[in-house]
Amino acid sequence: MRIKVTVNEKVMEMEAPYDEFLADTLRKHGFLSVKKGCNTGSCGLCTVWLDGKPVLSCSFLTMRVNGGNITTIEGVQKEAREFADFLVKEGADQCGFCSPGFIMTVLAMKRELSNPTEEDIIHYLTGNLCRCTGYQGQLRAIKKYLGVV
Ligand code: FES
Ligand code: FES
Repeated sequence: MRIKVTVNEKVMEMEAPYDEFLADTLRKHGFLSVKKGCNTGSCGLCTVWLDGKPVLSCSFLTMRVNGGNITTIEGVQKEAREFADFLVKEGADQCGFCSPGFIMTVLAMKRELSNPTEEDIIHYLTGNLCRCTGYQGQLRAIKKYLGVV
């Protein structure tokens, strides 16, 4: 199937089998920041935005994004770098394996929630797993980034 999508503000056509998932299609088309950890919709590593909202691309059929607007971390590099600085300052720069999906979720949260509580933040991040260590450094960085310290 041939679909037309906008990826990081560029209109493009993609060829994908009917049963292919978005993470695989994006990677085939060169968007290698889109990573897969579990491939079962459990870890959040594959998070990209569809029309501004986070979706798990490992379990989202490519044909469903026809006509849609996708953003990967390549499309929000400046913001991603800004947030990464907060992570580093809080000592939460670890292996980075979960970072692409985690950062896409945090940037989406910034757009969606105004003045969230710690509970709201944790709830928003429920689908993003980090294998390295505890989440306290990440949580401190997010709160500072969102200005809700
Ligand atoms: S790879 Fe998609 S949620 Fe884990
Ligand atoms: S930083 Fe290593 S898995 Fe999250």
